[in-house]
Amino acid sequence: MWKLESSSLDVNVLPVEESLYALANGYLGIRGCFEEGYPQEYTSIRGTYINGFYDLIEAKYSEKLFGFPEVQEKMPNLMDAQTMEIYLDGERVSLFNGCHTDYKRALYFDKGYAERSFVYRTQKGKTATVRFRRMVSFQVKELLLIEAEVQYDGEIRIRSIVDGNVSNYTDDFDPRVGEHAQLLDWKSSSLVDEAYMVLKARTKKLDFEVCCGVYHRCSKPEISVVIGGEHEPRMTAEYATSGNITLTKYAAYCDSRCQQEPVEHRVLKIIKEQSYISLEDHLTDQRKYLENFWKHSDIQIFGDDLIQQGVRFSLFQLLQSAGKDGLTNIAAKGLTGEGYEGHYFWDTEIYILPFFQLTQPQIAEKLLTYRHSILDQARNEARTLGHRRGVKYPWRTIAGRECSTFFPAGSAQYHINGDVAYGFIQHYLQHKNLDFICHYGAEVVFETARTWLEIGHFSNGKFMIHSVTGPDEYTCIVNNNYYTNVMARYNMEWAVKLYHILKEERPEALKGIIQRIQMQESEIDEMISAYKNMYLPYDEQRKIHKQDDTFLDKALWDFEGTPEDKYPLLLHYHPLTIYRYQVIKQADTVLAHFLLEDDLEDEIIRNTFDYYEKVTTHDSSLSSCIYGIMASRCGYCEKAYDYFMETVRLDLDNTHGNTKDGLHVANLGGTALSVIFGFAGYRIKDTGISLRPWCPENWSGYEFKLFYRGRQLRVNVTDHLEIELLEGERLEIKVYDKQYGLDSLLKIPLEGMKRND
Ligand code: BGC
Repeated sequence: MWKLESSSLDVNVLPVEESLYALANGYLGIRGCFEEGYPQEYTSIRGTYINGFYDLIEAKYSEKLFGFPEVQEKMPNLMDAQTMEIYLDGERVSLFNGCHTDYKRALYFDKGYAERSFVYRTQKGKTATVRFRRMVSFQVKELLLIEAEVQYDGEIRIRSIVDGNVSNYTDDFDPRVGEHAQLLDWKSSSLVDEAYMVLKARTKKLDFEVCCGVYHRCSKPEISVVIGGEHEPRMTAEYATSGNITLTKYAAYCDSRCQQEPVEHRVLKIIKEQSYISLEDHLTDQRKYLENFWKHSDIQIFGDDLIQQGVRFSLFQLLQSAGKDGLTNIAAKGLTGEGYEGHYFWDTEIYILPFFQLTQPQIAEKLLTYRHSILDQARNEARTLGHRRGVKYPWRTIAGRECSTFFPAGSAQYHINGDVAYGFIQHYLQHKNLDFICHYGAEVVFETARTWLEIGHFSNGKFMIHSVTGPDEYTCIVNNNYYTNVMARYNMEWAVKLYHILKEERPEALKGIIQRIQMQESEIDEMISAYKNMYLPYDEQRKIHKQDDTFLDKALWDFEGTPEDKYPLLLHYHPLTIYRYQVIKQADTVLAHFLLEDDLEDEIIRNTFDYYEKVTTHDSSLSSCIYGIMASRCGYCEKAYDYFMETVRLDLDNTHGNTKDGLHVANLGGTALSVIFGFAGYRIKDTGISLRPWCPENWSGYEFKLFYRGRQLRVNVTDHLEIELLEGERLEIKVYDKQYGLDSLLKIPLEGMKRND
């Protein structure tokens, strides 16, 4: 199953399908809207976006206290080049007003394009065959191509439009969707060399420029063309003919945020070069790029086509979402929608990065490099928060500013510092790339580690961290959130380890870093004492970790008395009501047990899972995958499978009801992690890698590959485990707690889960 497809047209799912069928390459993204348009009254979020391109809007508060962000970064919707209206003997083609048959739409994961076709019957009873194909190029990141192919025995007109009159989508009833609509000012429209339509716009506050250039290639060179709209926000090229026509629209988008060259120059250069190449040739290049991606990154599921489709959809969308230039990252919705305003969160490091780390380490490094690139802003934020040293990564951001205006569930999530550090450390463990640590990782790990010393304190000999929020946004501003404390411990422990590794192996590099950040030797001692004495809240009676100091003292939420339509709770209850109860939005302590399981007894892991599962709503899409992974760890096979099903189908079935605002990209990453870390039980530690595989009953098996310290491995699980060393030197690998040497191929019988369900 290499495609997502549909053959029914349902007005209610159109905005959802716009997200599902979105195309992107990590720089440019376009929602899957219909080229020929919709009737005006239909809801559609017609969007085109550039990753990392943003403007500033004023942050609104009724009571603005010290240090609250003054402005927020927000990703604008860009000029729209999607529209290609079709007229047959003067009648406008619309799937919603006219008659049609044979409607089909598909998104190809292996070929990297989307297609839509139908047979249209005009009011006079004549029929036309219409097909659209579109791609956003992985090879030329600025490039979007759309082809309209019409076969009709009569007069055909195609009006191809570039519209600079655009605004962002707003929803007053959903805090997860922004409220500012108009972020771009249209500046100019011109026709260059009588062929290239070039529109330029500017962001209202920051004066960043964005330019879109369009060129058409037509199957009939002698066709009549009228191009209009010069000096207006909307330009149109109208092609009229009879018989058949194939019109290919080449659109290039460039922005000035990270480029010196004037945007019009760049757009014209790209569009001139690229429009010589046919769509077929671009599609060939696209396929080659994807061949290479799938060669390393595919996760195969044997015996269940629907799951296979869901998994590949997730992996394809992850690739489409990831910024690959070291200056951008992965937005919570990728480039598929405007939810969360194009902001990057901890989602990347904890939910998405591991997939890239294992299968596309160069992309992983670019994502981490981005975090290094915003260190200065993180330093400023730390000073605003009153810290003399260290950094505070923004809870949500594009270019580095803290953009969270609700600090209890925003900037108070200090764990993001630990999450970013965790990303670097895991990357180091996976690839042992010390150069990367010297250039980027060490500075981030040192700086984040220092911040814990600023916000923590010793009490009765234990290191405590007060007034923070953990991952669970239904429990805010607490003391000693277990997740935060273990991540802080790991962060500081690794700062010390890296310090010693570099001292030994790269003393010059270490000296440079230490000088740059002015870190004292005594801080290393402080870190040792803090991490060794880290306080981790534990309940002796229940034998579980407490989510924080007071969580277990709260009243239990009345789940039985809460009707289905009151979920997600955040849309129906005041935060204070929610904070007073034992009710959790998303995996918190259970997530901590997944990320840092060292020294934990199985019994504690299981008790903790059992306890928190009962009070977790999974109102966040970042939850079910983690519960699934830990269900595998606990031997709850049925639960592991059910959680996985929720994860893999979340956007495809729109189970959270807001896929129209964009895909839940962390959950897509969670799909990949569910197979690799859940079913196969993969873990990476200082001591090496380990597996603890099992196979769900409904599958005949699964397979994936991964890179590890200069090697590539293939892991195949059927009724036994097969690990093949595809490349690189022999290694030691642990399977079910037993050590094996892998020279070329290992076959190990599955132990079968110690089932606990
Ligand atoms: C979750 C956060 C997450 C954000 C963006 C929120 O609903 O609670 O953990 O970072 O969505 O995905």
